[in-house]
Amino acid sequence: MTKEEAKIRIEKLRTEIRKWNYEYFVLDNNTLSEAARDSLKKELVELEEQFPDLITPDSPTQRVGSVLSGRFASVQHKTAKKSLADIFSEAELIDWQVRIQKLVPGQEISYYCEAKLDGLNITIWYEDGKFVRALTRGNGVAGEDVSHTVRTIQNIPLILNEAVTCEVSGEVLLPSLSFRALNERQRALGLAEFANPRNAAAGTVRQLDPAVAAERDLAMYFYALEENNLPDRLETYEQKVALLKRLGLPITPIAQKCADLDAVQEFYLELQKKRGDLPFEIDGLVIKVDSLEQQNAMGMTAKTPRFMIAYKFPAEQASTVVQDIEVQVGRTGALTPVAILRPVSVSGSTVSRATLHNEDEIARKDIRIGDTVVIQKAGDVIPEVVESLQEMRTGQEKIFQMPHTCPICGAETLRKEGEAVRRCQNKNCYSQVSESLKHFVSRQAFDIDGLGDKLIDQLLEYDLISNPADIFTLTAGDL
Ligand code: IVH
Repeated sequence: MTKEEAKIRIEKLRTEIRKWNYEYFVLDNNTLSEAARDSLKKELVELEEQFPDLITPDSPTQRVGSVLSGRFASVQHKTAKKSLADIFSEAELIDWQVRIQKLVPGQEISYYCEAKLDGLNITIWYEDGKFVRALTRGNGVAGEDVSHTVRTIQNIPLILNEAVTCEVSGEVLLPSLSFRALNERQRALGLAEFANPRNAAAGTVRQLDPAVAAERDLAMYFYALEENNLPDRLETYEQKVALLKRLGLPITPIAQKCADLDAVQEFYLELQKKRGDLPFEIDGLVIKVDSLEQQNAMGMTAKTPRFMIAYKFPAEQASTVVQDIEVQVGRTGALTPVAILRPVSVSGSTVSRATLHNEDEIARKDIRIGDTVVIQKAGDVIPEVVESLQEMRTGQEKIFQMPHTCPICGAETLRKEGEAVRRCQNKNCYSQVSESLKHFVSRQAFDIDGLGDKLIDQLLEYDLISNPADIFTLTAGDL
């Protein structure tokens, strides 16, 4: 990329990220996922590293977004609210362990792991056991007073089991079923739907009208107790959690004590598998050193505690660029447009192609060659293009036309009335023959061991087969 091109791209990226920050932090109604935003930000960081003289002080890489909307009173927290450092791999987990081990040489470290609930961080101040005030995290020093909505959350006690004064924090979330029901109601009323449960929870807590919040089935789970006047002498985080519970505060429902890193890794993989079946969304694991004495010895950096880390699940969305659109021909002759992407890491693997389904989908999403797009890969599902970021366009993008002749055999293609797919009309089309043979030997069909895509292509190339029956007359000599 030339410097001139980089300059244009950098400006587009900054504009898109600023727009995202405003929608997310101020309006509570972002439509682009955080993962896609992170991906845009990563590209911006890389370009600024490559062309450092293009860095400007107002670039979103140079500061964090403002998080106070001014809609509610801003109140100081009793203790400053830090954030967590993120990791994404076992290698980074081991690095973290090596770092913290140096701070407590020779000591064994055990961990308390909790699901990282994907909601909104809220801090509550109780005085003599009575709910006084609930604040958002805000900028960490002061938060917005959202007591009016948080008070309506059914599982939060307004009076604790003991008349203590304390500051507790946790996550407010909307269970997945309630989220779906809420969006159905929004749709029926002709109102905007929420992008995800976290957005819905954040939007609900920052409602002006507590009655709206009261009918939305929010829940809160607690994971931190800072200032308190309790006589208890706590030695471990596990005991802290038990104390929260004794006071009547609901605690993170998915948690496990882990004696070492292997146990942590095992719990992480187990949760990642279960993730889709849980009643609420989680985005990783929070790993906490269990001993409070060790926590003290490890201390804090300017932004994050050293004794806790967020081990996040790989992002299922990322942004990239459509470099070209190719057309594949399947075994039934169906023409499928496929986006050829600038390779990008998503869900833990590198993706360079994504299906575009059919021409209607391309038109509906208005995807053009050269577009910056958001792609998604959830679990084992084939990667797909979710949307194109049209404000990132430069005017150089090309509109794609589905070919009216087969790109493999040149025969006529036809799109039947009422169908979304266009098909090659030539039954002897090489792609149709090879794809149907590959399907025939595949696990879903005849499951012929040792006969895979490569061998089928070779057998076709040497004219040794042309239909499934030919496979059974092959001899050892042929192979
Ligand atoms: S402990 C220093 N435990 O994740 C902050 N956080 O990425 C201590 N979160 O701001 C937080 N589940 O909103 C903790 N079990 C859990 C959590 C959790 C979700 C959120 C929390 C925090 C963010 C950091």
